[in-house]
Amino acid sequence: MTEMNIDIDALMHELEELAAFSDTPPPSVTRVLWTETDQKARAYLKRRIEEAGFSWREDAIGNIFATFEGKNPRLPKVGTGSHIDAIPHAGKYDGTVGVLGGLEAMRALKRSGFQPRRSIELLVFNAEEPTRFGVGCLGSRMLSGALKPEEALKFRDQDHMSFDDARAQGGFLGDLGKVQLSDQHYFAFVELHIEQMPNLEKAGLPIGVVTAIAAPSSFKLHLTGQGGHAGAVLMPDRKDAFLAASEIALCIEQAVKDHGTIDTVGTVGLVQVHPNAINSIPSKVELGVDLRDIEATRRDRVLQSLLQAAEDICLKRGIRMELEMLNQDPPSKSDPMLVKTIQSNCEKLGIPYQNMVSRAYHDSLFMARIAPTAMIFIPCKDGISHRPDEYASPEHIRTGVEVLAGVLRDLGEV
Ligand code: GLV
Ligand code: MN
Ligand code: MN
Repeated sequence: MTEMNIDIDALMHELEELAAFSDTPPPSVTRVLWTETDQKARAYLKRRIEEAGFSWREDAIGNIFATFEGKNPRLPKVGTGSHIDAIPHAGKYDGTVGVLGGLEAMRALKRSGFQPRRSIELLVFNAEEPTRFGVGCLGSRMLSGALKPEEALKFRDQDHMSFDDARAQGGFLGDLGKVQLSDQHYFAFVELHIEQMPNLEKAGLPIGVVTAIAAPSSFKLHLTGQGGHAGAVLMPDRKDAFLAASEIALCIEQAVKDHGTIDTVGTVGLVQVHPNAINSIPSKVELGVDLRDIEATRRDRVLQSLLQAAEDICLKRGIRMELEMLNQDPPSKSDPMLVKTIQSNCEKLGIPYQNMVSRAYHDSLFMARIAPTAMIFIPCKDGISHRPDEYASPEHIRTGVEVLAGVLRDLGEV
C-alpha cells in the first residue's frame, strides 16, 4: 500500500481562498449559479486543477470534470466531487470540502507515485443549491437525465431571466443534449461532504458512511386575493393573500406533525408578498415549500393532506391557489460494495465510523441513478450548516480526505 500524505495546510488555505469569492461579506459565503462571482470561483478552481497537473473540461451548463488519467482511460471512471455554489449567507464548507478535498485526494495519490488503472475524475457540479431556478441539484439532475433540456429551458430565475439567457451570461453556449452522461461513464461515484447534522459530533466519530439519502420534494403555492387600501377596505370585505398564506404555513407544520413521523420535515423557506407595501393589502403571495422524508410514500401522503388543507383555507378566504410542483424526488440507496470499500478503508486506518442516512440532499442522490454511489460524511460543529458560522475542523477534513483517497485508490485499481 502506498503511503499518502494529505497536505491539510494547503487544503485549508484553498478553502479560505475559495470562500473569498462571495457576494456577501465574510464570514458568510453567497455564490449563485452563473454570476460573476461564480465565474471567478470556477476560474480559481480550474487554476488549482491545472497546477496539480490534471486536465479539465466543462459541459454545456458548466459542470467541471478534472481527470487524473488512468493506465486504461477507456474504462468507466471512478468519480468524486461535490458543488461550490452556496445559498445566500451560507458558510465555507458545504460542498467545497468534497470539491477541494476531492482534488487534494487526487493530488495526494499522484504525489505518492500512484497511477490508477481507471481514470479518477473530479466532478464539480453546477448549482446543487436551488437558489437561482428553484430546483436543487441542477447539474447532477441533468447529468443523470432526471432533468431533460426541454424542461430546463422552461426555467426562469427570480428576475425572469430565462435559463438559456442566464447560461449564455455565464459563458455557456454548448448543446444541452450532450450534458447527460451514459450509465457507463462511471464505475463508481463517491462524494465527501460535511454531515450538516450533529450526530457524528455527538457520537464523537470522525466518519459517517452514508447508506441512503432522504427524498426531497419542493413546490410553490401561488395565492391570489384582492389588494386594496390598508385603511379603507374593512376587514369583512378583504381577500388578503398573506393571511391565507400565514394560515397555510401553520397548516403545513400541522400536517407534517399529524401525518408524518420524526423523519418528516416541512419548511416554508420562501415568501414573496405583492406589492409588499406597508399600507397595501397583499394581493398576491408566493410560498416556497420544502418537504422531506426518508420514505417517499409517507412524504407524499403528507403532501396530499397539506394541499387539501391549503385548498380549504383558500376556499374559505376567497383566494385562488395554483400549485407549481418543482420536484418530487425518490430517495436513493448507496451501493453496498462502495459502502464496504469506505468501511474497510476506515478500518485499515483505524478510524471509527458509523453508518447513517443523509437527510440533506446531495448530488449523489442523482448520481445514484447512473452509477454505483456512496458518500463519506465528516462532522461539522454543532451540526450547523447553511449559515456563516458553519465549521469543520482541519483534523476532520484531513480524515475525510484520507479515507476518500484510500477509496479512490482501491476503486481505481479494480
Ligand atoms: C441541500 O443543500 C439541501 O437543502 O439538502
Ligand atoms: Mn447546501
Ligand atoms: Mn452540499
